[in-house]
Amino acid sequence: MSKETLILAIESSCDETSVSIIKNGTEILTNIVLSQIESHKRFGGVVPEVASRHHVEGITTTVDEALIEAEITMNDVDAIAVTQGPGLIGALLVGINAAKALAFAYDKPLVPVHHIAGHIYANNLEEPLQFPLMALIVSGGHTELVYMKDHLSFEVIGETRDDAVGEAYDKVARTIGLNYPGGPQVDRLASEGQDSYHFPRVWLDKDSYDFSFSGLKSAVINKLHNLRQKGEKINHADVATSFQNSVVEVLVGKSISACKHYNVKQLLVAGGVASNKGLRSNLVEACASQNIALSIPSPALCTDNAAMIGAAGYYLYQAGLTADMTLNGFNSMDIESFSM
Ligand code: KG4
Ligand code: ZN
Repeated sequence: MSKETLILAIESSCDETSVSIIKNGTEILTNIVLSQIESHKRFGGVVPEVASRHHVEGITTTVDEALIEAEITMNDVDAIAVTQGPGLIGALLVGINAAKALAFAYDKPLVPVHHIAGHIYANNLEEPLQFPLMALIVSGGHTELVYMKDHLSFEVIGETRDDAVGEAYDKVARTIGLNYPGGPQVDRLASEGQDSYHFPRVWLDKDSYDFSFSGLKSAVINKLHNLRQKGEKINHADVATSFQNSVVEVLVGKSISACKHYNVKQLLVAGGVASNKGLRSNLVEACASQNIALSIPSPALCTDNAAMIGAAGYYLYQAGLTADMTLNGFNSMDIESFSM
C-alpha cells in the first residue's frame, strides 16, 4: 500500500450526486455535491425516479470534475468507496454501478459503505474521533443513538419507533406552508418565536433511549387544525419554536444520559438535522456542563456528501473490507451488520 492513501468516494443514496477524493481518511482534496433540491421542490419531496435520472445525468462529469479538482488521475486512486445503503434503491444503484465500472476498468478495490457510518465519519474529517463515543444520528430517514467502542464498531442503543426527526421537521414545515426541505426553514423561524404552544416532550419509558416523533407531529397538526377551525390567528414562528424546543429537549436529554450511562469520552452528532442551530447550541451547553467532548460537523458535512463516505471507506479499506462485482445496493441496511 502506498504511503498516501487516496480514496475516490461516491454518494448517491438520495437527492445529492456527490464525488469526493479523500487523502489518508481525513483530508478532503475535493468534495463535489450536485444538489437536486430545486428539481424536487415542486413535488414537495424527493421523487425517487427523478432522483435516479439526475444521478445518471450527473455522475460521470462529477467523477471527472473531482479528479481535475484534486489534480490526480485514476491511476493515483487506491480504492473506490461507494454508499451501499440505506437509501433509494434506484439512486443507490447509479452510484454503485459507476463505482463498479471504475473499479473494473482501473483494477481498483471496491469498498461498500453504510450511509450512516458515513455520516458518523464526517466528524473525523474535522477532528479525531475519541473512543468510546456516542453518536446521535439525526437525518431525514434516521434517528438513532449509536455506541462505538472503537473504529467500525457500531451498537445501536436507541432508535426512533416511528418518524425520523428530519421527516417530522419536513412535515411540520409543510403544515405551516413552507417548501421542501422545510427543516432549515423551521430552524430559522424557531429563532424568532416563543414556546407559547407547549407541545409534549415524548420521553417514552424512563430507561429507554428510543425516540418517537409521530405523536409530536400529530400534536402540532391538530393544534393548527383547531386554531384554523376557530378562526384564531396562528403564529408560525411560535409553532416553529415550540416544536423545535420539544424535539431538542428530548434529543439532548437522551443523548446526555446515554453518554453518562456508557461513560463515553465524546458525543458525535451526524446527519442533516445536525446543522440545526437550536440543537447545536443546546448540545454545546449540555456537554460543557457534563464535561463531554462534543463534535458536530460543519453544516456542509452534515448533509449528504461523498467526503463522509470516503472518510468511513478509508477505515473499511484498511480493514480489508472490500467487495466484488456482485455488490448490490439495499434500501434498508442494519449498521450493526457493518461492525467489525
Ligand atoms: O442527512 P440528510 O442530508 O439526508 C438523509 O440521509 O436523510 O438529512 C436531510 C434532513 C431533511 O429532513 C432536512 O429537512 C433536515 O435534514 N435538515 C434540518 C436542518 N437542515 C437539514 N432539520 C432541521 N434543522 C435544520 N437546520
Ligand atoms: Zn444522509
